[in-house]
Amino acid sequence: MPVTAYNHVPIPSFMYGTAWKKEATTRLVQSAVAAGFTAIDTANQLIHYQEALVGDALQALAKNGIARDRLFLQTKFTPTNGQDHRTPYDASADLTTQVRQSFDSSLAHLHTENVDSYVLHGPYQRQGLGKADWEVWTAMEGLYESGKAKMIGISNVTAQQLTQLCAQAKHKPMVVQNRCFAALGWDKEVREICRTHGIIYQGFSLLTANGAVLADPEIRAIAKRLGAGVAQVIFRFAMHIGMLPLTGTTSPQHMKEDLQAEQFTLSPEDIRRIETIAL
Ligand SMILES: NC(=O)c1ccc[n+]([C@@H]2O[C@H](COP(=O)([O-])OP(=O)(O)OC[C@H]3O[C@@H](n4cnc5c(N)ncnc54)[C@H](OP(=O)(O)O)[C@@H]3O)[C@@H](O)[C@H]2O)c1
Repeated sequence: MPVTAYNHVPIPSFMYGTAWKKEATTRLVQSAVAAGFTAIDTANQLIHYQEALVGDALQALAKNGIARDRLFLQTKFTPTNGQDHRTPYDASADLTTQVRQSFDSSLAHLHTENVDSYVLHGPYQRQGLGKADWEVWTAMEGLYESGKAKMIGISNVTAQQLTQLCAQAKHKPMVVQNRCFAALGWDKEVREICRTHGIIYQGFSLLTANGAVLADPEIRAIAKRLGAGVAQVIFRFAMHIGMLPLTGTTSPQHMKEDLQAEQFTLSPEDIRRIETIAL
C-alpha cells in the first residue's frame, strides 16, 4: 500500500535500505526487489553506501523486465562532514554547486534522469538551521522545481529544526528520515510535526536501535499470539502509528518476513503496549 506526502507523490509503504552492504549491494538490491520491495534507499556517500552498485542492480533488473519506473528511488546529498576523501563533488565549491554536482553524480550512478526522493543527509549543525543548511535546502528546492527530484526531504533532524524548516522554507520537506528510538516515544515529537504537515516519516534502525524492546516479554507474547516474528511486530507497529519503515536486512528470508508484516493487524491494545514498553 503506497503512502502519500502533501504533494501527492506516492511512496511504497516499506523501503529497503542499502547502507553497509559493500560489494554485496548489487546482489542484495536484486534480492530485495525479487522479494517484493519496490522502494530503495541509498546515498552518495562512499563511507556507508555503494550507490553505483545500486545502479548496477537497477541495470540488471531492467534487463530482466523490471523497468526503472516500477521502482521508487531515494538517494541523499551528504555534506562534507559526512564524507571521507572520496567526496562525490568538489568540496571547495560553493554549497549550491556541491548539491548540483552530487545530484548529477547520483543520476549517473543510478542510470536515471530523475529520482523519486532526494534527502539532505543531515543539517550542518546540531541545533537550529544555519546559513549552510538554507543554501543547501534552496538548491534542493531548485531540483524539486525542475522535476528531477519528485520529492525532497531531510534526515537526522530534530523537532526544532523541522519546525523551523517547515515555517521558513519555500517548499517544506515531503519526507523525514530519522533513527527511531523507542525510548523517545518512537521519535514522537518529530512524527507529530510530520503528521501535522503531511510529511512522510521514514524510520530507520527500528530493530538495531531498540534491542531492549525486541527482548521484552510483552512484545514476545504479542508476536507469539499472532504467530509472527518480533521484527515483523515492530515493523507492523511502525506502520500502524503512521511510519514508513526501512529495513536493512541482508537475508532473503528476512526480506520476505519483513514484507509480510503488512499482512496482519495489531489491536489498539497491542499498539498502546508497544508504544509504552520502553518509556
Ligand atoms: N539517514 C541516515 O543517516 C541513515 C542511517 C542509518 C540507516 N539508514 C537507512 O536505513 C536502512 C536500515 O537501517 P538499519 O540497517 O539500521 O535497519 P534495521 O532493519 O534496524 O537493522 C538491520 C538488522 O536487522 C536485522 N533484521 C532485519 N529483519 C529481520 C528479521 N525479520 N528478523 C531478524 N532480524 C532482522 C538484520 O539482520 P539480517 O541481515 O540477518 O536480516 C540486521 O542485522 C539503511 O540501510 C539505510 O538505508 C539511514
